[in-house]
Amino acid sequence: MVVAYAHAVSFTLLLILFMMHVVFASLGLNGQKTIHLLCRLTSVFVIFTGAGLVIQYSLFAHLWQWSLIKMLFGLWLIASMELILVRLEKKRRTGVYWAFFCIGIIATFTIGFTFI
Ligand code: HEM
Repeated sequence: MVVAYAHAVSFTLLLILFMMHVVFASLGLNGQKTIHLLCRLTSVFVIFTGAGLVIQYSLFAHLWQWSLIKMLFGLWLIASMELILVRLEKKRRTGVYWAFFCIGIIATFTIGFTFI
């Protein structure tokens, strides 16, 4: 329960920081590097709490397969966010990575709230 709560808090914070970075980059504001660093730090929390949930679900639930699929999409989403942020800082095109992001976020939330 505590781990699920920590997971929810950290992935919400990560999504907020990610969006902040995107806005800062589109407005050309300073501070993108700092927000990117905070994003990476928060990602570590998301991964650790997510791993905690995977362990919890492998031990106690009959739906453990979904927790593994959820993990893959969660990692996919974090990777796509990292790729977008790196490219935004280098002022390179991000189009295809936004497609990866959309697939990741739809899959993570659908699996997170529907199947488990
Ligand atoms: C930005 C990335 C991620 C987002 C947006 C995200 C989102 C969610 C959501 C919405 C839920 C269901 C609601 C909840 O329990 O709070 C959830 C549950 C879960 N997540 Fe993540 N997650 C992410 C990354 C990860 C990662 C990296 C892992 C594994 C290492 C993971 C493993 C899990 C597991 C096993 C559950 C099922 C437990 C449950 O439904 O309570 N997640 N996640």
